[in-house]
Amino acid sequence: MADRRYGFGTLCLHAGQIPDAATGSRAMPIYQTTSYVFDNADHAASLFNLQTFGNVYTRLSNPTTAALEERVAALERGRASVAVASGMAAQMACLLTLCKQGDHIVAARTLYGGTYSQLAVTFAQFGIEATFVDPDQPEEFERAIRPRTKALYAETIANPQLNILDIAAVAGIAHAHGLPLVIDNTLASPYLCRPFEHGADIVIHSATKYIGGHGTSMGGVMVESGKFPWDNGNFPQMTEPSIGYHGVRFFETFGDFGFTMKVRMEIVRTLGPAISPFNSFLLLQGLASTSGTIRSSHGSTTPAWLRVLITRSRNAICLKVPARSFRSASRAVSRRACASSKRAGS
Ligand SMILES: Cc1ncc(COP(=O)(O)O)c(C=O)c1O
Repeated sequence: MADRRYGFGTLCLHAGQIPDAATGSRAMPIYQTTSYVFDNADHAASLFNLQTFGNVYTRLSNPTTAALEERVAALERGRASVAVASGMAAQMACLLTLCKQGDHIVAARTLYGGTYSQLAVTFAQFGIEATFVDPDQPEEFERAIRPRTKALYAETIANPQLNILDIAAVAGIAHAHGLPLVIDNTLASPYLCRPFEHGADIVIHSATKYIGGHGTSMGGVMVESGKFPWDNGNFPQMTEPSIGYHGVRFFETFGDFGFTMKVRMEIVRTLGPAISPFNSFLLLQGLASTSGTIRSSHGSTTPAWLRVLITRSRNAICLKVPARSFRSASRAVSRRACASSKRAGS
């Protein structure tokens, strides 16, 4: 689908899927298999050496999951992506590819709670430190950068405080220091914002949310823009022979999709957070109707999630709402929240 600019709805339905040549199946088949048959020993060797593209084992790649990966990459207008078992796993795989013991991350302090704990507690146990800054003050990202900083990290729309990041400003700071900007685009979705168009280098999704939309399946996706200069001297793990996989030099060998290949062949392969092909299928089913789901939730003046919030708000004192068109809804929320907090005596 590279020769035309397709619309969001068309990409949600078709990107990344080639109708099955053997059966003609219109729907994406579920390849619920762990392993794959090789033509002969040479074929197996060339697959393992990454000289031929193909599938070896579903922990590394799977045709149903590949369709999900290509579809999300197309929606984000990125180069390539890796899908894993959850949003948390996508972040972990991305950041452990960028950082090793002694390295450092500058992150927004308003991150989703699980992400905050992943960086502040779990990564600290691995010897990777994070400094948390106010995402509304882009210059704070710059002040926190150290010689061993390897990434700047933030959410497009912070969960749950709803701060909107000035992606271009933070990307400018990251690039001035030779660092990638990693953006969690879960809350915005590629319908509302495509961070690559504002300078981000890597985009993360908890596919569990808008990508699926139906709430049946966990999943996470990490997309790369293909534009980051990994040979700028800050990322020898991208240019030197890999200790973890056959001495491959990932940037030299795979170029603009070298980062996703390294994520897949080193971190996903050795830590194992593979997504089930069945979940990939269900997330693709979700994407087929995501266009409508996202349009109706993000596109209207009172999005569905805000209506749910209004009806569920009991003791809320203050809610931030991130857009001009949401102001009237915001006033409604404040009125109801005040009324309900008075009733609750808080
Ligand atoms: C913004 C954001 N990022 C990441 C995650 C983690 O995703 P998952 O629950 O799929 O692991 C969540 C989960 O709520 C989230 O809201």
